[in-house]
Amino acid sequence: MAAQNTLPLLLLALLPLAAASTFDVANNCSYTVWAAASPGGGIQLNPGQSWSYNVPDGTTGGRVWPRTGCTFNSTGNGHCQTGDCGGVLACTGSGQSPNTLTEYSLNNPGGLDYFDISLVDGFNVPLSFKPTSNGCTSGPSCAADVNAQCPAELQVPGGCGDPCTIFGTPEYCCPSPSSCNPTKYSKYFKSQCPQSFSYPYDDNSATFACPGNTNYQIVFCP
Ligand SMILES: *[C@@H]1O[C@H](CO)[C@@H](O)[C@H](O)[C@H]1NC(C)=O
Ligand SMILES: *[C@@H]1O[C@H](CO)[C@@H](O)[C@H](O)[C@H]1NC(C)=O
Repeated sequence: MAAQNTLPLLLLALLPLAAASTFDVANNCSYTVWAAASPGGGIQLNPGQSWSYNVPDGTTGGRVWPRTGCTFNSTGNGHCQTGDCGGVLACTGSGQSPNTLTEYSLNNPGGLDYFDISLVDGFNVPLSFKPTSNGCTSGPSCAADVNAQCPAELQVPGGCGDPCTIFGTPEYCCPSPSSCNPTKYSKYFKSQCPQSFSYPYDDNSATFACPGNTNYQIVFCP
């Protein structure tokens, strides 16, 4: 009797958990990339491999980025040359500069997902961030090889660093929106990837929107 009574209640309690967006991360590069996702964790993706996972409805501040030059031991501890996430494969925080960052918030008040690519933490691997459901088709791509012409002062092993991390001055780190302007470095990032954020408090033209709970695909080396 108890089981019969509790089963419907259990199902009702589980139904809201089913609301989620599926993220598919595909490595189209000719080299290995270690995907990092917060929430989500992380995984090694050899060329041609992909990874699918669910993100709960209402997630804000979500992020996915590529890591390169990683070595992890059998318990998933180690280090990456770019995008390192606290020295662990199964990432829970944010990544070290440089990394090409995708950001999203799902099903915000008003029922929309918002998503973007940001070069505010520099660049390591080209990527695209596209919706794949709900009839939504438009998303950003940063496919240029930003490393190739990276200004000498920003060049770091494996990528093109961001000027805040490298110089640490208010001009680049932007403690407040009112004193935050484009710089020669942010203009370089913008010229390479016009659909991406290029400095803190960049204008919102790089923000894309879809109906809530759309599914997404991120491709490394699109
Ligand atoms: C993996 O590395 C971590 C951190 O250095 C260490 O604590 C752990 O014992 C290592 N695990 C193995 C199986 O070597
Ligand atoms: C993968 O890369 C090739 C070029 O190397 C490109 O033609 C193709 O469109 C890419 N695939 C995706 C899904 O972006």
